[in-house]
Amino acid sequence: MADGHPAALHRGIDTRKWPEPALGNARILGDRYWRKEFAEREWEMMWTKVWLIAGLSTEIPNPGDHLTCEIGRESILCVRQNDGGVKAFYNVCQHRGMQLVAEARGEGSKAFACAYHGWRWGRDGKLLSVPDADDFPQGNPCKSVRLNEIPCREWAGLIWYNMDPNCASLEDFLGPLKADLECYRLHEMRRTNWVTMDGDFNWKCVQDNFNESYHLPFVHPQTKFVMEQYHRNCQFDLFPQGHARMFMPGCRPTASLRGEEDAVLNAMKMELTLWDLDPESFRGRVQDMREALQVQKRKMGAEKGYDFENFNDDQLTDHYHYTMFPNTSFSMKPDGCIFLRANPHPEDPERCTFDFWYLTWFPKGEDKYFSHSVGQWVSKNTPAPQERGKFGEVSCGPGIDQDVSIWAAQQKGLRSRGYLGDYMPWQERRVRFFHENLDRYLAGATRLGA
Ligand code: FES
Ligand SMILES: [Fe+2]
Repeated sequence: MADGHPAALHRGIDTRKWPEPALGNARILGDRYWRKEFAEREWEMMWTKVWLIAGLSTEIPNPGDHLTCEIGRESILCVRQNDGGVKAFYNVCQHRGMQLVAEARGEGSKAFACAYHGWRWGRDGKLLSVPDADDFPQGNPCKSVRLNEIPCREWAGLIWYNMDPNCASLEDFLGPLKADLECYRLHEMRRTNWVTMDGDFNWKCVQDNFNESYHLPFVHPQTKFVMEQYHRNCQFDLFPQGHARMFMPGCRPTASLRGEEDAVLNAMKMELTLWDLDPESFRGRVQDMREALQVQKRKMGAEKGYDFENFNDDQLTDHYHYTMFPNTSFSMKPDGCIFLRANPHPEDPERCTFDFWYLTWFPKGEDKYFSHSVGQWVSKNTPAPQERGKFGEVSCGPGIDQDVSIWAAQQKGLRSRGYLGDYMPWQERRVRFFHENLDRYLAGATRLGA
């Protein structure tokens, strides 16, 4: 660190390399991407045991505000309580099984009335009233019946739930991921883009993809101008809790790039100009852009409304990318987060729902902001509407669309009798780690890293 102050040594996240876990070399076969029995086992042994994200805290700010989220065949109802907390319930009426709340989102409900026979449930899951309460030989249900509540937590501006009543704490589940993400103040961000795609591929195609960067030169050829593609110049860490991270230098071309200076300067022009640096001054020394931007951001950040105090210099320019087991990625930037998630389809293992959110951290005093990361103006006070459709009908922006364009064709290949299983290089070890962790759940583990 430049100033040499002891505190500065600990600025930002702890980037020390984690020990590499021992990994096996069994082939990952294609049938786990399409066999119904496998998907059913995933549901029983894994999805119903892990912490998952229902939505954003800001979606339900006031008592009685609620949202429902779909995961596989389940619908989960999250309700803001009078004391400010959130409770989560299976979205099912305990009279005779009607789904209780139909809408995705609602405000200020005092109670939830079932559309079938009118049982009324309180915000806290208590049964408030039923028609003909004196007609129950087993006793008035209001005295004994409640909505089926499940563990629920709020952290980092996100609402988390777990279908396992005996689950480990969210802290134990997250492990080191918690401190790393906290550094980025997700709770201060706003969702400024939200796209949900109905995908013709297994959910694991998505998690696999974001667990490796081996595909960058082929799927994202433009990235060689602005980021380091070579794995030996990146850091990969595999956490005992099943999550992983990648540090990839950004704001400079990949070290092996020769020539193509115009393309590099052009790709970096907007960001350099934004920070009062002249792109032309880097002619003949494009590898210096990254450090120059770090110095400049440190110097000018506060006057532009940013707070970079918690970040180390590399965080100001590089790609700090996290894959959380089982189904979520957080790609962190000083002014935002790309959130990527694949949820399983209720019946068909060859389909899933892919969610793309962009969460923006607004500089102090800015309600409107040009998000460099998504290349558009975004507004703090207008929540992003959900756009939903198939690939081609809706877009996650050019970069992520390049990823999505792969998965349906990959699913076809994974389904082929001719596919004999993976043959992966070491740099893709986060993919292997992910599958081995999934296998641990399928073998009966209910948490990792204990
Ligand atoms: S099923 Fe809900 S009131 Fe009958
Ligand atoms: Fe990609």
